[in-house]
Amino acid sequence: MKRAVSDSIYYVGASDRRLALFENTFPLPNGVSYNSYLIDSDRTALTDTVDRSVADVFFDNLAEALGSKPLDYLVVHHVEPDHAATVADLLLRYPDVKIVTSAKALVLLNRFNDADYTARTIVVKEGDTLDLGKHTLRFVAAPMVHWPEVFVSYETATKTLFSADAFGTFGALGGNLFADEIDFDRDIKDEMRRYFINIVGKYGVQVQNLLKKAASLEIAAICPLHGPIWRKDLGKVIALHDTWSAYRPEDQSVVIACASIYGNTARAADYLADRLAERGIKGIRIYDVSKTHVSYVVAEAFRASHVVFAAPTYNNGIFIEMEHLLHDLVAHNFRNRRFALIENGSWAPQSGKLMQSMLSALPGVTQIGETVTVCSALNADARRALDCLAEAVASEF
Ligand code: FEO
Repeated sequence: MKRAVSDSIYYVGASDRRLALFENTFPLPNGVSYNSYLIDSDRTALTDTVDRSVADVFFDNLAEALGSKPLDYLVVHHVEPDHAATVADLLLRYPDVKIVTSAKALVLLNRFNDADYTARTIVVKEGDTLDLGKHTLRFVAAPMVHWPEVFVSYETATKTLFSADAFGTFGALGGNLFADEIDFDRDIKDEMRRYFINIVGKYGVQVQNLLKKAASLEIAAICPLHGPIWRKDLGKVIALHDTWSAYRPEDQSVVIACASIYGNTARAADYLADRLAERGIKGIRIYDVSKTHVSYVVAEAFRASHVVFAAPTYNNGIFIEMEHLLHDLVAHNFRNRRFALIENGSWAPQSGKLMQSMLSALPGVTQIGETVTVCSALNADARRALDCLAEAVASEF
């Protein structure tokens, strides 16, 4: 079914609750939505298509929303296949539609489809407009949010921002299209953070650039390519994206990322957490990196002001899943945090030194206290060292 966003804009996207891994890597416990919108003006414009998995529903929705009208334009904001995989099919079904996209997007669209759409494409750049009659789309470049070809568009009559991947989230839509109809703190915020940090987090500077451009627009609604539409409390979602993209901690809190083979490093992590709690620190969270998917731990590390990494030495290096986490943090431009280290090694502890060299190279990422060494299992020396570390961390709260 088409869904009305306003008098003249219809939601024609759909949700996938069966896909296990987004981009074949990120777990989707609550599914994901692929959003597409039809602007029903004197001339009709569709913004983006959807992933192949929901193509049937999308084409039904689109046909219903168009009724007897022709489809005049397809605006392709982003060529990643979760939004553009059904472009070729759409062009077959609507042979007269004109594509409206950026020069870089046209190159990618041609590559992905092994085709040449040049003759049926209107190439647009920053500041260009598309006159639909009662509505006008103004195009705003948004390179690297999240691919280089990306742009967003602003519809001037309804003051609607079609924001591409920006302001998106994991999670299927379930009837309620608008964020103000959903419990944001309970049902959206964590997954929106995980989506942002893991998908776009590397490109904080580019997101900051887009936020600056958006600040010059009077925005009544934000229509992203994933997740609910924003028509209220826009300041809340924009402020969160500002925090995340500026690499500022969201909470003054401690996250402990722990790797443990036989449970001894985990006991050290628990001992430290207990000592921190006794010193009044609230909201401490411990994650076992072998159990919790790395995308959750990365998002949590970005949320917190202080992160403790606890890992055994393994093959004379860092235990596998912890090394994976650290590589992912480096890849996502992790910065501006305080960290503490616990290492374990029965005959030649190495993990502390190796974790320290990866983290200390990151801008604004600095260590608190001394690395605590656990030799096989917690003993009195290690407890004393953990007491000192707890004192050092707590002194910053
Ligand atoms: Fe939702 Fe970058 O695609």
